[in-house]
Amino acid sequence: MDAQAQTVQKTVRQSPPVDLTKPYNAAWVKGKHIVITGGASGFGAAFVQRWALQGASIVIGDINTEAGEQLVQELRQELGNPNIWFVCCDVTKWQDQVKLFKEAVRYSPHGGIDCVVANAGVAGNDILQTPGDLSADEPPEPNFKVVNVNLYGVLYTTHLACFYLPRNPGSSPCSPQTDPAKTVRDRHLLLLGSVASLAPITAQPQYGAAKHGVLGLFRSLRCSSFVQGIRVNMICPYFVATPILIRAAKIILAGAELARVNDVIDAGTRFTADSSICGRALVIGPPAKAIMADDGQLVPSLTGEGEGEETGIWECYADDFQAVDTWTRRWVGLLGYLESAKGWTGWAKDMVAAFWASDRKPEKKSA
Ligand SMILES: NC(=O)c1ccc[n+]([C@@H]2O[C@H](COP(=O)([O-])OP(=O)(O)OC[C@H]3O[C@@H](n4cnc5c(N)ncnc54)[C@H](O)[C@@H]3O)[C@@H](O)[C@H]2O)c1
Repeated sequence: MDAQAQTVQKTVRQSPPVDLTKPYNAAWVKGKHIVITGGASGFGAAFVQRWALQGASIVIGDINTEAGEQLVQELRQELGNPNIWFVCCDVTKWQDQVKLFKEAVRYSPHGGIDCVVANAGVAGNDILQTPGDLSADEPPEPNFKVVNVNLYGVLYTTHLACFYLPRNPGSSPCSPQTDPAKTVRDRHLLLLGSVASLAPITAQPQYGAAKHGVLGLFRSLRCSSFVQGIRVNMICPYFVATPILIRAAKIILAGAELARVNDVIDAGTRFTADSSICGRALVIGPPAKAIMADDGQLVPSLTGEGEGEETGIWECYADDFQAVDTWTRRWVGLLGYLESAKGWTGWAKDMVAAFWASDRKPEKKSA
């Protein structure tokens, strides 16, 4: 990186690319008070489990009351950690989110919030390109639920995070010089993007638009984190087998290698635990060996050859569009390579599994 870029990074409190070869200590999550939206299922539930095990206190906001309350009961019993709560919250409703944050402060053992995770999301059949009967006078008004949840919901969460994180008692403005081993109090906003934040996604233009919106939010917030001292990070998973993947997606993905939930949780835990990481994005993809590219970036090997264990977590070096574009080209190459390695047998197996899969029933919302 040139001297000018280094100066900019220092001024805006952005840390250098995450050294993924360096271990972090998940125990640094202990004592942090975390609010997570969409914590009743998938990544959210897995984050809650991992962080509750490490001794964090957590408030889950989700529309799925049944699953959320059940998770809280199970974890309290299993782990003996009483500091896990559920608040029924539809992220598309401002007052629901205000209630979530107010409750979170009330439940907080130290009276503030250290970390906000904007995780709630939906996918589904996208109506944007299917306006219905083309001989009608006008198309029916479209339902933009995917954008409402995945972008407007995240904007509400971000707005509230920008209000509550700087008020966190005992916290200091973020800095790459922070020693995470000695700093429990934090001001951290973790955004759930997607590979669809970086690259197009077939047949899901609304989802792609929303997740590109989250990327724009991340890029904009990270370059002004010096204003309120909030560190903002983002994870961009490729497809992972959670309930969000509907049958149509499974059919399109037949034969392709998916990313692993554990890698998503590991990446999110590194960001949450290591308070010296500011303004970085990690991409989570199918496991591959790492090689050092000519420009010094650690990138996925396209041939299966490389040093050490396979990994699914990558820095996407989102310092500028040029680097992101280079990264994206390599990524598309990796997916092509993995798909061809799996071959027709893998494709046929996944197609059979996808046809037999049933989509999740709609969530029940209680008052
Ligand atoms: N699984 C993947 O392949 C994948 C890939 C990239 C990004 N993501 C993103 O990861 C995040 C988590 O997804 P997941 O895979 O765990 O899916 P999931 O369906 O298992 O979990 C999503 C959670 O969000 C909740 N939710 C949905 N609408 C809500 C609303 N209006 N208000 C509050 N909660 C709501 C659901 O009830 C559920 O608990 C999402 O933002 C998703 O876009 C997922």
